[in-house]
Amino acid sequence: MNKPRKPATAFSAVVFDAYGTLFDVHSVATLAETLFPGRGDALSQLWRQKQLEYSWLRAMSRRYKPFWEITRDALRFSCARLGLALNAEREASLMNQYASLSAFPENLQALRELKAAGLPLGILTNGNRDMIDVAVRSAGMTGLFDHLLSSDTVQTFKTMDTIYDLAPKAFGCPAREILFVSSNCWDAIGSRWYGFTSFWINRGGLPLDQLDTEPDHTGRVLTDVVALVRG
Ligand code: LAC
Repeated sequence: MNKPRKPATAFSAVVFDAYGTLFDVHSVATLAETLFPGRGDALSQLWRQKQLEYSWLRAMSRRYKPFWEITRDALRFSCARLGLALNAEREASLMNQYASLSAFPENLQALRELKAAGLPLGILTNGNRDMIDVAVRSAGMTGLFDHLLSSDTVQTFKTMDTIYDLAPKAFGCPAREILFVSSNCWDAIGSRWYGFTSFWINRGGLPLDQLDTEPDHTGRVLTDVVALVRG
């Protein structure tokens, strides 16, 4: 008797967070360090933290503003908070750098392998559509994704259900069949609350956020996602 064929994967699609997961938000630290010697890391860290805080606050209070503008607001606040002189020229160069962040080194290959395995791929991000189009293009990822799902469409941010809802609608499958990959622990947990199967990429060996829920899977790099999917 023939053995039943093992399905290639348990998932119908793999969907990625963008900032911090595919694109390294802290790659701006090098330019920040050149502009503000000795303060590059501090600026990069606070900038990211404030950007996220503003997204959460605006989502909770239904005060949507494109993520690009939130990113600029967060930069202005962070420089003021750290006592760094941000003039128009410095702001333009830091924002320009943010538009085309470096991708983590293993990402392109890992995405190609997932694509070659026949899995539909997507991005689901707080980033507005223009922002994500430029980031994907400058990282050489054009053509790898079936869907680029952006906050623009629903005018809110993670962890609201309405933004996570974009993925099951786009891929036409239940949320649990979607493997949602994020290096932001809060997003990996938020996506599991929503109903996805979640994968946390813990690049920095960070402690788990204390939110009474753990991601379904954890790894260190995007290549670990390929290993899980291949079984
Ligand atoms: C994003 C944020 C969480 O890409 O970085 O959605």
